[in-house]
Amino acid sequence: MVIDILTLFPEMFEGPFSYSILKRAQSKGHVILRLHNIRDWAVSKHKNVDDYPYGGGAGMVMMVEPVVNCIEDLKSKTIYDEIIYLSPDGELLNQPLANRLSGSQNLMILCGHYKGIDERIRTHFITREISIGDYVLSGGEMAAMVLTDTLVRLIPGVLNDETSALSDSYQDNLLSPPVFTRPYDFRGLQVPDVLLSGNDREIAKWKYEQAVARTRERRPGMLLEE
Ligand code: ADE
Repeated sequence: MVIDILTLFPEMFEGPFSYSILKRAQSKGHVILRLHNIRDWAVSKHKNVDDYPYGGGAGMVMMVEPVVNCIEDLKSKTIYDEIIYLSPDGELLNQPLANRLSGSQNLMILCGHYKGIDERIRTHFITREISIGDYVLSGGEMAAMVLTDTLVRLIPGVLNDETSALSDSYQDNLLSPPVFTRPYDFRGLQVPDVLLSGNDREIAKWKYEQAVARTRERRPGMLLEE
């Protein structure tokens, strides 16, 4: 998979993309993450990327030319499955949407800033708008990191044990069961004995029951979905 990210702040991605799963997925060739600074496509002498909104109002708006020049430049070299704009107005990101997008070959992700982006970009160049939650971030960068992480870990081969993505919370419409590691006894708090029993059937049954109980308690709506 190739993910092209359009941003005014490419440096923000350096840390998150350089550790753990995202780092390994890139070095093993499962994903190519490319960052593009929208300012490089600015048309004015001073490389402006934002301007005052027509009709007045608070905040600046990202200009159409730098963004569209950047999108068109990339589109001349690559065919994209989706051109995604991250925005609180978008479709809510959830696991089924992540599963679907993780099958893509090429994705473009546009990070907005200021008060938003010129509406003509959204209506004519964006194919999908995604929100990572019902709250407002200062820009799309952190949302792009969240989206990238959730997609990349689903690419076959990225996780060591392929089943570990399948057993994630949400994959069966269930939250994950509790997990424990050594020591067996921590200040008198002991690990449930069934997990040490060696009985795979009993362990699987316990995990399932715990997952259902946890889901019923914390996210009853998930049990009713689908
Ligand atoms: N940009 C600002 N807020 C956002 C959100 N909640 N999701 C995606 N992009 C955003």
